[in-house]
Parts: sequence; structure tokens; C-alpha cells
Amino acid sequence: MPGSVASPRLRLADDNRAAMGAEAAGDAEDPRSHWFNAFGAVRRETERRAALLSAEDQVVQSMPDASPTKWHRAHVTWFFEQFLLRPHDKNYRAFDERFAYLYNSYYVSAGPRQARPRRGLITRPSADEVTEYRRHVDTAVLRLIETADNLAELAPIIEIGLHHEQQHQELLLTDILHAFSLNETHPAYDPHWQWPQPTRANRAGARSAAPLAGIHTIGHGGNGFCFDNEQPAHEVMVQPVRLASALVTNGEWLEFMAEGGYTIPRLWLSDGWGTVEAEAWQAPGYWSNVDGAWFSMTLGGLSPIDPSQPVCHISYYEADAFARWAGKHLPSEAEWEVAVQNERLADAFGIVWQWTRSAYAPYPGYQAAPGALGEYNGKFMVNQIVLRGSSFATPDGHARATYRNFFYPSARWQFTGLRLAEYQG
Ligand SMILES: [Fe+2]
Repeated sequence: MPGSVASPRLRLADDNRAAMGAEAAGDAEDPRSHWFNAFGAVRRETERRAALLSAEDQVVQSMPDASPTKWHRAHVTWFFEQFLLRPHDKNYRAFDERFAYLYNSYYVSAGPRQARPRRGLITRPSADEVTEYRRHVDTAVLRLIETADNLAELAPIIEIGLHHEQQHQELLLTDILHAFSLNETHPAYDPHWQWPQPTRANRAGARSAAPLAGIHTIGHGGNGFCFDNEQPAHEVMVQPVRLASALVTNGEWLEFMAEGGYTIPRLWLSDGWGTVEAEAWQAPGYWSNVDGAWFSMTLGGLSPIDPSQPVCHISYYEADAFARWAGKHLPSEAEWEVAVQNERLADAFGIVWQWTRSAYAPYPGYQAAPGALGEYNGKFMVNQIVLRGSSFATPDGHARATYRNFFYPSARWQFTGLRLAEYQG
């Protein structure tokens, strides 16, 4: 195994971070070297995360929303095969034509595909064959980067493929944690894993940042990579509001529970209360009560709840109910982004994604990219809620202030928490 995941935060090695950074694309490095290094760094990180898992671990699908590790490893590889190699490398020969069906996720215009809830049934190809598939595609992509006379044209496809793979690096961990949470022996993904430490500003707790108000610009308008859902940049009107500089902690969540948070219907949205009843929720995801003490299933196995740590595995419904109980609100995504622009938030990145109260909708004038890659984000802009920031499992160099993550409001297997907002009289 090529080494365990670093604790407490998962990190790319320094050379890998630099390879994905904007600086590396500048004067000091020619584009061919930049993309060669960046591609290798991201592909290695996926395998580093998967290396802690056995072939048996890699095949399981514990629910329709969660995909097997082996599927993640192959799907991100198919992405390069489908969108880069097949259309742009006339010498490319597919590793196995049948893989397109197995590893296409949701790209309708790329052809038929395995139904999502049935990804765990793909026992063949084996994990070793997926490793061979990855090597085959790696070799072809690196050769293309070295030889293409239209690299500038190909670079945006390579770049989105790498950011796509980084998204799956986080999903690989959230999905295997869900599988392990259903195993009564509480397997540890990495026995050395620990919760990330919040900053002192977060632990000092709950002091709100200075208020924000007025007209501000949000969205991605500058240089560097972004997904299409971050554009266009546009002006927003922010009402006078203070965002908590701190993330909500487990200790605060225990107070909410002690005051009957999960038993008082008036605190909940109707759909949220329906989910509380249907799922018998009494605590955040992965929490269990052992002889009167609360524990949580983590990547390090079953761990006692630390009241000083930010709460995690919260759905939007729970975040919304907590805010109502606290007499406060969830921030909008615009308020969150403006607060980050003004450096008002502690732990905006690298601990837990933060639910906002914003529906995942297109920005004014949004247009999806042309072609099959236009299916990446735009077609999901209904019935989901935006999260901002990043989590400890997000690869370094992946998230940014304008980044829009999104999940259904009942989802809580991601590394999700919250911070509160307070409006001024
Ligand atoms: Fe994907």
C-alpha cells in the first residue's frame, strides 16, 4: 500500500498541490509539463485513497446514492476516455468497449448506462482489471499531453476531468464510510484518522462577525478553473446580517437534542418532519448511543462525540430545524460568499461543508456548456440545496469561495455541518 491517509486532514503531497494550483500554470512551467504533472498527481491521489481498501470493500454499494470504490475508480477513468481520448486521439483504442455501459454515470448523450442502484452488482471486472484500465488510460492521456499539437484546445477537457476526479475522491470516502457504518464491527478506513481540529477562532465560539450589507458581486469572474454553475458573476443585494464566525458544534447539537429538538414538530419543515418520522432520526447521521454516551462512526471507526468539534452528518432539514430552535437562520449562499470575501468566517474550508438556505438554481444568465459536458451541472438545478466551503475530505486545491456544492435536503452521508446567520433589526 502506498501509505495511509494523512491525519487529521487529507492532503495532496506538496508537489501535487502545486501541480493543480494556478501558479503552476504560469510562466515557470510550460503547459505540457503542467498538465503532465497535474494529471499524474490527481490520478495518484485517487489510488492512494483506494489503497486502504480491499477488493471486497471496493465492490459494495450500501445504498443507491453511494457508489462502490471500484466504480468511482473506473468512472473517473471513463470520463477521460469518453470526453478526451475518443474524440481527440485518433490512435486511441478502448481498453474494453463494454466499460462505457458500466461506467457512464448520468450522461444521457454519451449512451446507455448501468442503473445507478445496480453499480454494486458489477463484480466483474475485478479491482485488478480496473487498475489495468486506469493504467491504459493514464498512458494514453500522458502520451496525448506530450504529443498533441492542439494542447490548448484539449486543456479545458483535461482540467474538468481532473476536477471531476477530485470530486469523486471525496465521494469515495463518504461512500465507504456509509458502507462501514452498516457493519456492526465498525471497521476503520484508516485507524489513524482523527477529526480535523477547528481553529481557535472557532473554538472561542459563537462570536458573530461584523455585519455585512449592501450590493456585492458573487460568482466566478476571474481567472482559474471554475465549474459552469459558478457563472456568471453578478451583483446581489445583502441585507444587514451577521454570520457566526464559528461552525455549530456537537455540544450545541447535544443541547438541541436535550431540549427535544427531534421531537418538536413546529421546529421542522413539513418534509423534514416527515423524514424524522420515517427514518426515526434522533441524532445526526452515524451517531449511536452506547450506555448513555454518544459515539459517531468515522473514518477512524467508532469514536466518542467531542462536544467542542463541529457537528457533522447533518441534513438540510436538521440544519434548518436547529437554526429555528436557536432563533436564528441559515445564511444564503450569497451571504456566505460575501462573508468569505471579507474574511469574516473561521473554518469556511477544510472541516465540514456548510448548508445554506439557498435552492440550487441557475445564476442570472447561466448557460450550460455545449455538448455532453453540459449535463455536468445544469440539469440538476432543481429540488436541491447549496452547500458552501469544503470538508476535510475535499482534496486541497479543489474548492474556492465561489464553489457551489449541492445535495438533496435529506442527505446526510456527506461531511456536512452548518453555521448560523442573524439579521439586524
Ligand atoms: Fe462523475
